[in-house]
Amino acid sequence: MAAASTHLVAVAVVLAALVGGAWCGPPKVPPGKNISADCDGKWLEAKATWYGKPTGAGPDDNGGACGYKEVNKAPFNSMGACGNSPIFKDGLGCGSCYEIKCDKPAECSGEPVIVYITDMNYEPIAAYHFDLAGTAFGAMAKKGEEENLRKAGIIDMQFRRVKCKYPADTKIAFHVEKGCNPNYLALLVKYAAGDGDIVGVDIKEKGAKEYQSLKHSWGAIWRMDTPKPIKGPISIRITSEGGKTLEQEDVIPEGWKPDTLYRSKLQF
Ligand SMILES: *[C@@H]1O[C@H](CO)[C@@H](O)[C@H](O)[C@H]1NC(C)=O
Repeated sequence: MAAASTHLVAVAVVLAALVGGAWCGPPKVPPGKNISADCDGKWLEAKATWYGKPTGAGPDDNGGACGYKEVNKAPFNSMGACGNSPIFKDGLGCGSCYEIKCDKPAECSGEPVIVYITDMNYEPIAAYHFDLAGTAFGAMAKKGEEENLRKAGIIDMQFRRVKCKYPADTKIAFHVEKGCNPNYLALLVKYAAGDGDIVGVDIKEKGAKEYQSLKHSWGAIWRMDTPKPIKGPISIRITSEGGKTLEQEDVIPEGWKPDTLYRSKLQF
């Protein structure tokens, strides 16, 4: 009995905290307007926080809610950010690029640096909020002041959407996700330059005349479930947020395997 009533009290306290809001942290702020690809170059205000190791890439496993892995490596190089809802856009914002900078505190350099949306945060603390990898947060500091800037924990920053640019040899890659089989294809799209984010993925199987649309699954992953086994090679067509399309025949070979990265010749 004693244990049960303690439990009830605990539930009541948690509910009161959730409903009360005021006692658990800053007031809730509704998210801002979605940031679209037709960037007008205007700087907007946001809150910046950071997560993970101070000089790390964010999540302990170097992954995140976009489904990318090894965001500590090129081309992201630990410059990842969790966007709140108008930036992450339920995963459709994955891969988009932003310039960020700060003027205060004094450790801020005021010089813009580029971050990539690789993860999500839906904390209602500001209209726009970037929860940055420790490395990316520190990159807004003057040289040598990275650690001191991170000590501030939460700061005001400015941001603007920019086109994504990658080294010339970085082409769009498709990762066939773990657990895929001929009746279930899930493709993670990464390293799209330009708008950076993808709003449509269509595939054409061997011998088919028409492309078929994949459904957005989560993060940067698009999927198809079909009773009829999918035959390779598979051609792919992708559409960027701004409406540009690219396609390539037979990107994914016959005899494709799960948990494998297939590089295309495509780039926006
Ligand atoms: C913002 O983008 C998401 C993902 O595309 C969408 O679900 C949502 O409706 C958009 N919100 C607005 C206000 O346009």
